[in-house]
Amino acid sequence: MPMFRLLIAALMALTLSACKPAVETAGPAGNVVDSADVPDPNSYAQPERVRIEHLVLDLRADMQARTLAGSAELFLKWQDDKARELVLDTRDLQIRSVQGFDGKAWKNLSYRLDTADLILGSALRIRLPSALPRVRIGYSTVPEASGLQWLTPEMTSSKQAFMFSQSQAIHARSWVPLQDTPGVRFTYDARIRTDASLMALMSADNDPKAVRDGDYRFSMPQKIPSYLLAIAVGDVVFKPISGRSGVWAEPGVADAAAVEFADTEKMIQVAEKLYGPYQWGRYDMLILPASFPFGGMENPRLSFITPTVIVGDKSLTSLIAHELAHSWSGNLVTNSSWKDIWLNEGFTSYVENRIVEEVYGRELADMENVISQAGLAEALKSTPPADQVLALPPLTGRDPDEALSDVAYIKGQWFLMFLEQRFGRETFDAFLRHWFTTHAFTSSHSAEFERFLTVELLDKHPGKVSIGEIREWLHRPGIPSSAKPSVSSRFVAIDKAQAQWFAGDVSASELASSAWGTQEWVRFLERMPATLTSAQTAELDAAFRFSGTPNPEIAQRWYPLTVRSGYTSARPEIEKFLIAIGRRKLIMPIYAELAKTDDGRMFATAVFEKARPGYHPITIGSVEAALKAPEPKAKQP
Ligand code: BES
Ligand code: ZN
Repeated sequence: MPMFRLLIAALMALTLSACKPAVETAGPAGNVVDSADVPDPNSYAQPERVRIEHLVLDLRADMQARTLAGSAELFLKWQDDKARELVLDTRDLQIRSVQGFDGKAWKNLSYRLDTADLILGSALRIRLPSALPRVRIGYSTVPEASGLQWLTPEMTSSKQAFMFSQSQAIHARSWVPLQDTPGVRFTYDARIRTDASLMALMSADNDPKAVRDGDYRFSMPQKIPSYLLAIAVGDVVFKPISGRSGVWAEPGVADAAAVEFADTEKMIQVAEKLYGPYQWGRYDMLILPASFPFGGMENPRLSFITPTVIVGDKSLTSLIAHELAHSWSGNLVTNSSWKDIWLNEGFTSYVENRIVEEVYGRELADMENVISQAGLAEALKSTPPADQVLALPPLTGRDPDEALSDVAYIKGQWFLMFLEQRFGRETFDAFLRHWFTTHAFTSSHSAEFERFLTVELLDKHPGKVSIGEIREWLHRPGIPSSAKPSVSSRFVAIDKAQAQWFAGDVSASELASSAWGTQEWVRFLERMPATLTSAQTAELDAAFRFSGTPNPEIAQRWYPLTVRSGYTSARPEIEKFLIAIGRRKLIMPIYAELAKTDDGRMFATAVFEKARPGYHPITIGSVEAALKAPEPKAKQP
């Protein structure tokens, strides 16, 4: 039986990689990982010929001109000595010079910058006389670089200029010419010069005691993929949380952030106990201005975090658990191309929830799972079946940012929860730890995980899970029938309260809601039908002051409900919210709802005009797409 399974897995791996021979790389533990199952269609790089092993950046961040300018030196490891071309990914970069080092001197090399592809950018093709060990590119970025946001002083809390990067998925190429694929890992050093009054930080060895002088040096001695390359410049100060952890934030935000995220050290310890030592030295967080388009970004040693989770009661700190969890799932073991993003985000959502359970208890962990599984069910209604599988086909011709969905996060997490339930916690924890240890500092993919799972779990514990069940989770759309939905006892009470209020049995002010936290309020709102009457909306707003709430998770549910219900009194607060915040997850549901009617779209377009200067390029792209064409009539349950 085990042999049979092995054969199936081997055959599958063969079929998957049939179009191209797999490239084998040895991980640090001597393990052999098939790290390039198929070429990454979201990169022009040819890692089977040559790989970047180390990067040296020397850049000036000009806060007035909104550019990074200087050089990137690439240390190369040739896989094919006869290759004479180095192909790099770039997007909107102004290339000044390309030189090669032959062991004695730097010499100019000839190169060509291809015309830009809308999704991929421009391939930079460099001709080499021989397999040179080093190439140096002089370049600068443009102010509209898709991976950077330059904020004017008025747009920040400390009224000083601010700049930050967001490289995932394929935006690193807009600020560094490199092999922009998660299948290639490299170490890096950097020198960043900028205004002496500002601090510069990177996804590297930031020094909590660094003095501001406008000249900063960084080193990242662990190999990382390009999407984890990160930089920020701004008026940020450091507040410690523990000996190895702390927050960087603008002075007006730093104290509140340190209090909100005080449990970070506890979280690190929980994760270490489950999955092995934290391998990155320090774990710090950078609190960005509210225009940051994501909740968080797992830049190694320095997670980038939205300020919108600082709500005063630690109720949204599962975001920190999530970004920290990526220190194992994603940063240590990385998806080799974006089709397998569930290996990053599904694993991370699972680990996140385990941390939340340990630190805050089972009730909170359950509530968060019920909310996310309900979100997945909703999302699946508008997800094409082909995109409902965990192991996606190569994302050829697609923007990896657009392929991202709840499927990778929540179905991925659910798959691991299913395995945990079937094999038992002890066995599954040991298995997951083994996955991280044997694949540390390498890139991997779904077929490799399927093989590892078959050999290390299914074959060693026969009769618990069939290969058919595994294949259903990985390769079929929808949620398998073997999935056990999460339940929350607290939500039983919330659902009852919601039903009583909706039926008119109790008024809003009579509800026993004084002890409800963020998750309970979210559930209460999500249980509402698509629309309410104006009397109902007004009653809720009067009783709970939802409009203008400082809690963005509540706002994200309340405002779309008011739009659907025609409760236009909420519009002034909606406008303030959309101008103050640029986090896509929070604002896109509101724009999407407004875009469904002509009147709503006019209002949204006017608000967007005002909000736009403060938005990140990624957010601008999403809002423009949402407001463009009139959407087909909404399909509401
Ligand atoms: N790595 C992601 C953010 C990301 C994914 C950026 C894909 C670009 C492309 C990050 O870890 C993340 O998942 N953030 C979530 C947090 C949440 C699920 C707790 C977010 O930003 O909402
Ligand atoms: Zn994530």
